[in-house]
Amino acid sequence: TQITLIGAPTDIGAGARGASMGPEALRVAGLGPVIEAQGFQVKDRGNVQGPANPWLPPVDGYRHLEEVAAWNQAVHDAVHEELTLGRLPVLLGGDHCLGIGSISAVARHCRAAGKKLRVLWLDAHADFNTNTLTPTGNTHGMPVACLCGYGPAAITGMSGQTPDIDPACIRQIGIRSVDPGEKRLVHEAGLEVFDMRYLDEMGMRATMEAALADLDADTHLHVSFDVDFLDPEIAPGVGTTVPGGPTYREAQLCMEMIADTGLMRSLDVVELNPAFDVRNKTAELAVDLIESLFGKSTLVRRGA
Ligand code: ARG
Ligand code: MN
Ligand code: MN
Ligand code: MN
Repeated sequence: TQITLIGAPTDIGAGARGASMGPEALRVAGLGPVIEAQGFQVKDRGNVQGPANPWLPPVDGYRHLEEVAAWNQAVHDAVHEELTLGRLPVLLGGDHCLGIGSISAVARHCRAAGKKLRVLWLDAHADFNTNTLTPTGNTHGMPVACLCGYGPAAITGMSGQTPDIDPACIRQIGIRSVDPGEKRLVHEAGLEVFDMRYLDEMGMRATMEAALADLDADTHLHVSFDVDFLDPEIAPGVGTTVPGGPTYREAQLCMEMIADTGLMRSLDVVELNPAFDVRNKTAELAVDLIESLFGKSTLVRRGA
């Protein structure tokens, strides 16, 4: 497999500035060479471009909707192009609103190729708000809802069909912050959520076995990795920390079990915010985990 890194330097959907510096922080932490060391060819196509962040209050329950749509179209086009070339796109965010552009491109590709889709959403948050439910107006809290058809025309149906994806293809892991209205919609849509209570009771191994059940050789596995999934003690470099997330060991096992499937065909790494980081340690941690996601293991494992 050939890998393409795609930077999307924006914080257009976030409630704090700084995720726009994420792509460069990941590059500085060695992301490209680390993936190459796992035996892949890596091309960095540089950054997609989009409008500046005007930093305005929400209108109609959305902050910066027009700019959010422009960034997502740029991301959609780049991700779709790489998939068409048979490459594995790695989107370097940027805030999590960019999951709309990325995953709509994946959905479009899967539909054309007749492949099944499974989306693993690693996050502290469900990101299932709408303009009437959101407490903030920040679209990084809305991408899953938009992909499932709950959102404005500008950022729904980017794959050429609304909804872009069936909620049944999503597995959310690590969730521990859901707003009251958002919670109702999560249940209404029937999202499969492995929240921190589930992880506490079952452990990461059983959680990942459940989240990765029923995949087959025809499944395109997309991983959307919001860095705030991780416990803030180890990953302070994000804008929306929530205590009580997965530990380093749990996160490693999560990534290793995804790698073991051999089915990951696209990846988002989002919400890294160097303005909140300490000597780039969160970027280095993300790179360390991504190394496992691309198959690094201590020993050769048999019959795993
Ligand atoms: N639920 C909150 C909101 O809607 C926080 C969302 C955080 N999302 C994220 N991708 N970090 O504003
Ligand atoms: Mn998120
Ligand atoms: Mn989050
Ligand atoms: Mn549309």
